[in-house]
Amino acid sequence: MPTLLIIESSPRGEQSMSRGLTKIFVDRWKSKNPDGRVIERDLMKTSLPFVTMPWLGAYFTPAEQHSPEMKEILRLSDQLVAEVLAADHIAIGTPVYNYNIPAVLKAYVDHIVRKGKTLGVSGEGLVQGKRATILMASGGLYKEGTPIHDRDIATNYLRLILKVIGIEDVTVVAGGNAKAVDMGQKTRTEFLQSFSHEIDQAASR
Ligand SMILES: Cc1cc2nc3c(=O)[nH]c(=O)nc-3n(C[C@H](O)[C@H](O)[C@H](O)COP(=O)(O)O)c2cc1C
Repeated sequence: MPTLLIIESSPRGEQSMSRGLTKIFVDRWKSKNPDGRVIERDLMKTSLPFVTMPWLGAYFTPAEQHSPEMKEILRLSDQLVAEVLAADHIAIGTPVYNYNIPAVLKAYVDHIVRKGKTLGVSGEGLVQGKRATILMASGGLYKEGTPIHDRDIATNYLRLILKVIGIEDVTVVAGGNAKAVDMGQKTRTEFLQSFSHEIDQAASR
């Protein structure tokens, strides 16, 4: 059974553009994979701690030597890693904040890049045979040829992290110029529909 992991990181609920993009993606993916399973990981509903000394202590201790406290500290990280490993396709919905991904998504990254689970001891990615789609909403336009293309840090960072854990088959749906909706130049539906074809192609892979 094909499995889709969908990661949401916008705090804006129904108003969110990235959540609107992921909703279209999930609908398309489901219609192409009627027997598929969808795991939803909403980072707005997940209490993600930042990395702390006790967390690092557990991280660097071999699993067979873990105390009950260490096991508890890594419990959420283990669960997040298990979701990544269970998925065939990983879709990440994200806003751009200050030219990068939001802090909550970076915290998530720190939990899923795990030595021995997603990253090999020699630095090789262990998450093989999967594909990913990034569904990004941004006020500005960062695509190649735009004046601020060199500030497209969020896309490059997510591509890099996915590559680090072993996922190189990555499609980016860049939902740029979302500010047109805030400024009343476009409706939310018009904005989302303009990415419909791109999303359809990403969901068909
Ligand atoms: C705190 C904050 C920082 C932002 N920084 C940027 C930015 O650096 N570049 C950009 O293009 N848009 C920026 N935006 C605009 C958002 O990317 C845009 O509103 C997007 O639709 C947010 O995604 P969402 O609708 O899924 O929440 C920022 C918005 C906020 C609230």
